[in-house]
Amino acid sequence: MSILINQKNISKTYKDFHGRQFHALREVNLEVEEGDFFMLLGPSGCGKSTLLRIMSGLDSNFTGSQKYMEGLDKKEFGFVFQQFALLPWLTVEENISIGLIAKGNLTKEKKNEVSEIIKSLGLEKVATEYPKELSGGMKQRVGIARALAINPKIIFLDEPFSALDSFTAKILRQELLTMWKEKKITIVMVTHNTEEALQLGSKIGIMSSHLGKIDEIIVNTLPQPRELRSQEFFKMVDKIESLIKI
Ligand SMILES: Nc1ncnc2c1ncn2[C@@H]1O[C@H](COP(=O)(O)OP(=O)(O)OP(=O)(O)O)[C@@H](O)[C@H]1O
Ligand SMILES: [Mg+2]
Repeated sequence: MSILINQKNISKTYKDFHGRQFHALREVNLEVEEGDFFMLLGPSGCGKSTLLRIMSGLDSNFTGSQKYMEGLDKKEFGFVFQQFALLPWLTVEENISIGLIAKGNLTKEKKNEVSEIIKSLGLEKVATEYPKELSGGMKQRVGIARALAINPKIIFLDEPFSALDSFTAKILRQELLTMWKEKKITIVMVTHNTEEALQLGSKIGIMSSHLGKIDEIIVNTLPQPRELRSQEFFKMVDKIESLIKI
């Protein structure tokens, strides 16, 4: 398997309110391989979003070395954030196509692909509506569809389901998992929910509070589809939670 992202000794400092420097990340080492569903798990403030922003090339202000696989183009990165960040003056369909329009790339073939994605995420009925008319769950579907529309090599997601009710989150997790399997994309996703990390992740990078470190990377060997009420699942939840220092 090819390594898409290779991080060595990544550190990042911020200044606090008093102007003092503190480490948000300390010597993080990790590799994301092609086909991984890589979860970054840890409590609030441990540095997950900071690390995701660096991994995805949104933040280049860090020390250490980060290498992308040769030929990997940042244009092939898709993003889904907790805040939906849709453009209110564009319809659902236009929001989904925005990355393609920006690249001047909206061929007839691509338009058909966008229609397919709209269909597979159950957005046909709202394709011509504006974001403000949609529920949170539908907005997040649009966010996922928009990331998929550019035919990404990697999708980076930052707590995409944490603002949603548990029923909608459950459905969207399942849909994301299906997309990952069918389209064979690589996913890096931030969460503070251990069950979510174990249900979705093929690997889980565990971060503890305020240390800015990846304590351990666990390869998730639970068989797919993950049986969320099995003894094995509960055992893994306990194991992971015992590793997280709050
Ligand atoms: N722009 C910034 N300036 C100063 N400090 C920051 C900045 N962004 C983040 N931090 C601090 O860096 C630390 C890590 O923040 P980060 O947002 O990466 O955490 P997180 O794990 O994503 O938390 P959450 O689960 O709450 O989103 C926190 O202590 C946070 O307050
Ligand atoms: Mg965060």
